[in-house]
Amino acid sequence: MTSFNSLGSNYTVDFIIKALFTLNRSQYQEELALYLEKKYQGKATLVYKGREALEMALTMLDFPARSKVIINGFTCYAVYRAVENAGLDAICADIDKTFNFSASTLENLIKKHPTTQVVIVQNTFGFPCDIEKIASICKQHKLILIEDLAHCIGTRYSDNQESGTVGDFTTLSFSQDKMIDGVSGGALVIRNKKYNQKNITLQQNVSYVQQIKDRLYPLLTFIIRKTYQTGIGKTFHMFLKQFGLLSTPMAGGEKGQFRKLPNWHCKLIKGEFEKLYTNLSHRRETAMIYAGSLNKNLIKDLSYNLLPNSSNLRFITQTKDRQSLFKYLKKSGIYIADTWYDAPIAPIKYLKETRYKKGDCSNAEVISETIINLPTHRAISQNATHRIVSKINAWQQLQQKT
Ligand SMILES: Cc1ncc(COP(=O)(O)O)c(C=O)c1O
Repeated sequence: MTSFNSLGSNYTVDFIIKALFTLNRSQYQEELALYLEKKYQGKATLVYKGREALEMALTMLDFPARSKVIINGFTCYAVYRAVENAGLDAICADIDKTFNFSASTLENLIKKHPTTQVVIVQNTFGFPCDIEKIASICKQHKLILIEDLAHCIGTRYSDNQESGTVGDFTTLSFSQDKMIDGVSGGALVIRNKKYNQKNITLQQNVSYVQQIKDRLYPLLTFIIRKTYQTGIGKTFHMFLKQFGLLSTPMAGGEKGQFRKLPNWHCKLIKGEFEKLYTNLSHRRETAMIYAGSLNKNLIKDLSYNLLPNSSNLRFITQTKDRQSLFKYLKKSGIYIADTWYDAPIAPIKYLKETRYKKGDCSNAEVISETIINLPTHRAISQNATHRIVSKINAWQQLQQKT
């Protein structure tokens, strides 16, 4: 039995077939846009990536160049890039135990940066941020609030409101390994009526070559995962990567690149929204098993009281020697080395492209060196979860002995 955090683990056989054969009907585009407009109460535009939706929102606000945008100090480079592409300055807010910044950290940063105009919350891994206080601070300082749902479609805040129904703008990502995984995709929902008169026409299309890669991605990753342990899958994976034949989540993000989401992606994404609440229950139950059965000293510092409201995109634990754990688990076919996030602005190889300075977000620095992500997706059965737990606990005992 093999278990992966990613590499197409979200896809069922039915999804693989649909990705290959779904037609490109324009009605799918309209159906998804209408669905999102109803769910998030605003005007929806569908784009090829979540980062395009973020950049589009920030660009339409038309703030003076280099105005400040406060982002989570434990995030994806795509978020940072979207802010900078819009001609604005990203300011990283350090995180607390919820992997989100707190209301008091936000207030301090606003004082320090008086040209702040926008705040982006992301509910990291699905853990809800303190939205009530954050929204009220934004209102008090007349700041625009963007809810980035890349991790947290289906998360509920403490007042039971669903994420995406509070801010001025909601942005969504339907990229690989996200809550709603359509291989790629993004959406901007303009909730603030002041901005929803803006006319958005998307001039650029996703190339046919890219679309073929996207259609094949679920099938190819299925083959890789199924044959990984024999060695064939690993070699096949390396071959596909070497020749650029596999869709990669970090590609794209050039300034002003706003691409129309192909219709067939829309059909797949809408289908996944219909299964959202079943998948949320599965992820929650899986997270509860980890929380209840992992060795207590692996989980002591984290806020498990948040699990019931979280989308539980991944389950989080921490250890000082994660490379040794990854190596140990690999022997049993458990592949969890792809870590969100391995730097305050991740992946770590992109950190040097940013203005991030050591010490800017000291909590995020410590967490990014020790964090471990465990899979909660639908391909992880209860048995597989217990198997992962028992292997991690066994590794822990070995560590204590040595
Ligand atoms: C918090 C967050 N927001 C936005 C994005 C960008 O999404 P996309 O890959 O669809 O551009 C990511 C990427 O993983 C992310 O982690």
